[in-house]
Amino acid sequence: MSVAPPMRADISATAALPKVVRAKGSYLYDQTGKQYIDGSGGPAVYCLGHANAEVNAAITDQLDRIAHGYRYNFTTDALDALTAILRDRCGGTLTEMVFVTGGSEAVESCLKIALQYQTAIGRKSRRRFISRERSWHGNTLGALGVSGFAERTAAFEGAFVPSIKIAAANAYRPVPGATAETAGAAAAAELEAAILRAGPDTIAAFIFEPVVGAAGGCVPAPDGYARAVRDICTRYGVLLIADEVMCGAGRCGPWRALARDGVEPDIMSVAKGLAAGYQPLGAAICTTAVFEALQAAHGGFQTGHTFTGHTAACAAGVAVQTIVARDGLVDRVIANEPRLKFWLADALADVAAVGDIRGRGHFVALELVADRDTRQPFPAERKLFHMIRMQGLENGLICYPVGGNVDGYSGDIVILAPPYTASDAELQEIVAKTALSVRQVLAAERLG
Ligand SMILES: Cc1ncc(COP(=O)(O)O)c(C=O)c1O
Repeated sequence: MSVAPPMRADISATAALPKVVRAKGSYLYDQTGKQYIDGSGGPAVYCLGHANAEVNAAITDQLDRIAHGYRYNFTTDALDALTAILRDRCGGTLTEMVFVTGGSEAVESCLKIALQYQTAIGRKSRRRFISRERSWHGNTLGALGVSGFAERTAAFEGAFVPSIKIAAANAYRPVPGATAETAGAAAAAELEAAILRAGPDTIAAFIFEPVVGAAGGCVPAPDGYARAVRDICTRYGVLLIADEVMCGAGRCGPWRALARDGVEPDIMSVAKGLAAGYQPLGAAICTTAVFEALQAAHGGFQTGHTFTGHTAACAAGVAVQTIVARDGLVDRVIANEPRLKFWLADALADVAAVGDIRGRGHFVALELVADRDTRQPFPAERKLFHMIRMQGLENGLICYPVGGNVDGYSGDIVILAPPYTASDAELQEIVAKTALSVRQVLAAERLG
């Protein structure tokens, strides 16, 4: 009896995709020799571009000595060095950390640290999280449960750690009754109301992305929002978790994205740009005060994995972060932000479907709308974002289009997250090819 092959979800259906064989700097090459410019650092990961000789040498040097010093037996130079670097980059009181293998594990660790902390200080009734719609925190069960991304969470509803979803904070799409100017205050008020409704003694933490990535399209916190949620969390004994997996490690200007809003979280995650894709690496970082409570009650973090603090991965992180600092790449990202936005706006000035261009640093997105006045999205079935991805590949461009930013299903955004090392000419090529791809898809669909 023959068995039907399992259905493949879109995201893993690789048959139609080109096969990549090598890359250098901002360019990748497939098996036919075709060149692609990396306009999005893959999924906002490759902040140093590809095949960086210094990073590769640091990893091979580490592998030649020892690949993995297991955390219960040893510490290592690479782990100690990366810990010191992250203390310096985070600044303030964010001093303690657990290294993991990626973003979902980093978020999962943040959630666990929050729960452990509440237990440690005698508030074990605080078991729930508050998070936002239009957010993406990862694919493990805990991280998925706090994510507000219906298309990705629907199949698993009913099995999540209890959490409460509140509206996204988005100046382009404010909560009903608010304007772009009042969007931050209105969304923060919703957080306070949710805490009071549930009872502060039930809430462990509030988790949010300081600049929303895939689920929103580079949506920065509206003015005053981050400060307001910081104050509300402090007032009610709720921990503030900043998910900086995508927006952190320098991508949005300061090394810590939330630093731009003048706010220190209690716990934060960082991943993608940390080792820039040269090794899988993420971290959950918390304040000294949070850690001291865990230490007093339980002796330390009660979270970690076999590959926590993986030595070769930490060596990659050290090399990447050393280069980012030595070459002034965060300053470069800050300086490029207005230029990138200007070039993009200029290249798409006459395209009525471009409703918004936003973001910070090397993390900018355009949002397509069917009607600029009402901000009505195009019907989800059209999957414009997907067509732009494919048209981009055809044009030799890697960009990061996503659907669902409006209600989890509809909405089309295109994220650009170029390497911090991209030259001006490369940035302009990325913008030109993005504009071309958007125009071609709109023309083919008779929408522009
Ligand atoms: C903000 C945010 N958090 C968490 C994750 C999950 O990271 P990973 O895919 O490395 O597990 C992502 C991935 O895109 C992300 O953007």
